[in-house]
Amino acid sequence: MTNRGPTVVRAAVLRVVGAEPPYSSSRPLEIEELELKPPGPGEIQVRVRAAGLCHSDLSVIDGSRPRVMPMALGHEAAGEVVALGADVDRFAVGDHVVLAFVPVCGRCRPCLSGRGALCEPGAAANAAGTLLSGEVRWHDASREPVYHHLGISAFAEQIVVSDRSAIKIDSDLPFEIAALFGCAVLTGAGAAMNALDIHVGDSVAVFGLGGVGLAAVMAAAAAGADVIAVDRVTDKLTLARELGAQHVLSADSRVVDAIREMTNGGADHVLETVGSVAVLGQAYAATHRGGTTVTVGLPHPQEMLSIPAVSLVAEERTLKGSYLGSSVPERDIPKFIGQFRAGQLPVEKLLTHRIGFEELNEAFDRLARAEAVRQVLVL
Ligand SMILES: NC(=O)c1ccc[n+]([C@@H]2O[C@H](COP(=O)([O-])OP(=O)(O)OC[C@H]3O[C@@H](n4cnc5c(N)ncnc54)[C@H](O)[C@@H]3O)[C@@H](O)[C@H]2O)c1
Ligand SMILES: [Zn+2]
Ligand SMILES: [Zn+2]
Repeated sequence: MTNRGPTVVRAAVLRVVGAEPPYSSSRPLEIEELELKPPGPGEIQVRVRAAGLCHSDLSVIDGSRPRVMPMALGHEAAGEVVALGADVDRFAVGDHVVLAFVPVCGRCRPCLSGRGALCEPGAAANAAGTLLSGEVRWHDASREPVYHHLGISAFAEQIVVSDRSAIKIDSDLPFEIAALFGCAVLTGAGAAMNALDIHVGDSVAVFGLGGVGLAAVMAAAAAGADVIAVDRVTDKLTLARELGAQHVLSADSRVVDAIREMTNGGADHVLETVGSVAVLGQAYAATHRGGTTVTVGLPHPQEMLSIPAVSLVAEERTLKGSYLGSSVPERDIPKFIGQFRAGQLPVEKLLTHRIGFEELNEAFDRLARAEAVRQVLVL
């Protein structure tokens, strides 16, 4: 089936960055009616059924992730295929899909070397706010374009995406759980499993226990690691324990010493999932000599990290970043769903709130105050 005409859809649009919190008063996200064009070649139209709120959306709202404006936000979603563009043979109408926030072209140099997270046309399209085709598929009431967030723009009733942004899933997986695999799980569990080489009994410390950090905690625990979880919020520490962390620590000035003491000089692997350079510095200092520090958080592009350069050499340290869980979404999303079904990744515990469109601004206040893990817009 091919959809030939435009559809009018409601979407949460951000026009100006840097609104004053609380967002319940400044209301940076406005629900607008947009005209959605039908999918072009290699594109599909998806009815969004569930969309999670991630700190990266909040970072666009508060200006720490500069993006082209206006933009319809959201990038963690699951839904149902309702129409196909030309040349789409990987999907059929009615398929359930999870969306991944880098469209993976499959042909560029990183893609060919198994590093889909670094897809070059995918990164260029995301930076431009377009789909992989270079197109923008919707416009507002004044016929001005509204840009796509990371090829997805999940806070919308229906979206058009590249078929390279979508991964087919079984239809019995609830949408509100499925959505979380698109960012929180892919990023956090992916960073633990793809960017680190965890062996049974290794120590893994995770700084920051949002959706991303907690997904890393559960994946590291499933891999048999001894997990130390760190956050400022007590409820997050309690949840981390439920998800398999053996030790939890409140984030204060003594946290690095505490980790170094309990691990005899530092954890073998440390993940930073806060988006703070100060916390990255702590994560590096809490890593054992010879160990690996992985940074997953996304600080403002002007933030600089300062570390003793010689420590990389004389202590054979590794410091690396992980984007999109260093994953190939088409390989890793089904793998993580399989681990969820086997009871190894209790992803449903990340879902703390279900919300409607009208609550989005309030929900971003909750995220900014670290009062929620994953809140899902249910459509
Ligand atoms: N690399 C990627 O591909 C990728 C993907 C998604 C999100 N991200 C980034 O990862 C980060 C986490 O995202 P999220 O959605 O899980 O965020 P979140 O806001 O849900 O979680 C962040 C957590 O960090 C905690 N925190 C704050 N200050 C801390 C401190 N000093 N020490 C320890 N913990 C502290 C907060 O209490 C909160 O629990 C963000 O920077 C986000 O932009 C990166
Ligand atoms: Zn995200
Ligand atoms: Zn590519």
